[in-house]
Amino acid sequence: MKNVRRPVEVEAVVEENFKIKTFLFKDKLCFKARPGQFLMVWIVGVDEIPLSISRIGDLCSVTVAKVGEATEAMHRLKVGDRFYIRGPYGNGFREGGGYVAIVAGGIGLAALLPLVERLNASNCKIDVFIGFRSKSDAFWVDKLTGFINGKLTISTDDGSLGVKGLISEVFRGYVKNFKPRYDMIYTCGPPAMIRQVFQDCKKMNYKVQASLEAYMRCGIGICGSCCLGPYRVCSDGPVFSNNQLTKMSELGIYKRGPDGLKIPI
Ligand SMILES: Cc1cc2nc3c(=O)[nH]c(=O)nc-3n(C[C@H](O)[C@H](O)[C@H](O)COP(=O)(O)OP(=O)(O)OC[C@H]3O[C@@H](n4cnc5c(N)ncnc54)[C@H](O)[C@@H]3O)c2cc1C
Ligand code: FES
Repeated sequence: MKNVRRPVEVEAVVEENFKIKTFLFKDKLCFKARPGQFLMVWIVGVDEIPLSISRIGDLCSVTVAKVGEATEAMHRLKVGDRFYIRGPYGNGFREGGGYVAIVAGGIGLAALLPLVERLNASNCKIDVFIGFRSKSDAFWVDKLTGFINGKLTISTDDGSLGVKGLISEVFRGYVKNFKPRYDMIYTCGPPAMIRQVFQDCKKMNYKVQASLEAYMRCGIGICGSCCLGPYRVCSDGPVFSNNQLTKMSELGIYKRGPDGLKIPI
């Protein structure tokens, strides 16, 4: 059933910022999804693309950054319009307890917000480090403030909001100086950010769960277009842990395009 495309109706659209919109819909299978799982979303006549489930409940959602043809078409959808989904796919995050850090870059937050909600409900102490290009790219800062009981650190590349600099560098500075005893680091964002965060976490002996992006076609482990190191991101991931990340030497250096060729990042 989850592999058959099914229609969902847009119940509401939330404009998060100038290039990000959240689309809310009802779906029984998404209601039971795990944080970190994704859908293959078909926009009729345009393309089918992977999108994380950004809200899990009676109303579920996907949160979409406008970057190209399919995401632009998605942004034109209005309440009452339909789009088609397959999934939920992928492993999702493993939820642990204790003291955790979330390190997110931009739209990577979409995969992490349902996790933050669950961790908060199970009384974890949560520090969040979130990076945006600039103040106009920021979203969900208020939402996060409501969910976490630890530190919230925001950075922007141009310094227009929070600390100036890359969030991976801000995170590195914090853990080097304060050596917090994190039980788990959860991360999602641009591959170069994840590479940096993982390398720093290894030095600190932190356990990591990183949600990765790759070009996807089938979403279910058949076509091979999402290969990264020895893994298929769609079916072995998209969430990977320390041992697996160590085997992905090209993470953050190359990505694969639609023709399967490696493109330097
Ligand atoms: C597991 C997974 C979960 C994702 N979750 C979300 C999400 O919650 N919200 C969201 O906005 N996006 C998410 N993405 C990325 C999203 O799938 C792409 O942005 C989308 O496919 C672009 O389609 P397009 O036709 O609009 O752009 P295209 O015209 O295909 O590409 C426009 C630009 O986006 C880049 N791009 C294309 N596909 C990807 C990709 N898979 N990853 C990174 N960059 C890409 C291209 O290199 C190009 O620079 C996710 C990707 C994966 C693999
Ligand atoms: S998208 Fe086809 S194997 Fe992953």
